[in-house]
Amino acid sequence: MATNITFHPGSVAASERAQLLSQKGITIWFTGLSASGKSTVACALEQHLLHLHKFSYRLDGDNIRFGLNKDLGFDEASRNENIRRIGEVSKLFADSCCIVLTAFISPYRADRAVARQLHEQAGLAFIEVFVDAPLSVVEQRDPKGLYKKARAGEIKDFTGISAPYEAPETPEIHIKTDQSDVTESVRLITEYLTTHSFI
Ligand code: PPS
Repeated sequence: MATNITFHPGSVAASERAQLLSQKGITIWFTGLSASGKSTVACALEQHLLHLHKFSYRLDGDNIRFGLNKDLGFDEASRNENIRRIGEVSKLFADSCCIVLTAFISPYRADRAVARQLHEQAGLAFIEVFVDAPLSVVEQRDPKGLYKKARAGEIKDFTGISAPYEAPETPEIHIKTDQSDVTESVRLITEYLTTHSFI
């Protein structure tokens, strides 16, 4: 923990920034098993929002692990730290008035709750989207062959097989990707954003 540090506030209040940029910052937090469709839906939503001229940016588990979080593995402590950092980074992006789309398995409820609290304490909305698909379905999809490897014991701590996934109990949005396609999922989320005056 650093000592002798002082928080330096800016000269533009959050409300003024939002007014000047004509956009409120929010974080849309996708959570779900590997291959549930988090990245696919987040990519399509990002594209849709950008075409509506909304400043939107996606933070994706695999991608962030190539850079910022390349020092982290998949044991519980590493996943806690992964989500702690993403909670902080997404809060900063949201504070800049960005519509942030995070696509991380984020398997632990407590970690997601910390990320939510961080946003809400800063007056920023946090919208949890449960990207839900049964294990049997995601295992069948297995686009990266990871479930096969996990079943064969070649990957340890694999979510859903040898590591836990704690499903959200009261997500703001629940999409079932074995029942709706990407277009329908994007429509559902966009409808939520419009109804709640986020866009
Ligand atoms: S977490 O749980 O939120 O820290 O995970 P995340 O940062 O989203 O990274 C998940 C992606 O890493 C790949 N991968 C694994 N996932 C789960 N368990 C293990 N052991 C593992 N090893 C590698 C996998 O490609 C995940 O991507 P998605 O998009 O979820 O399939």
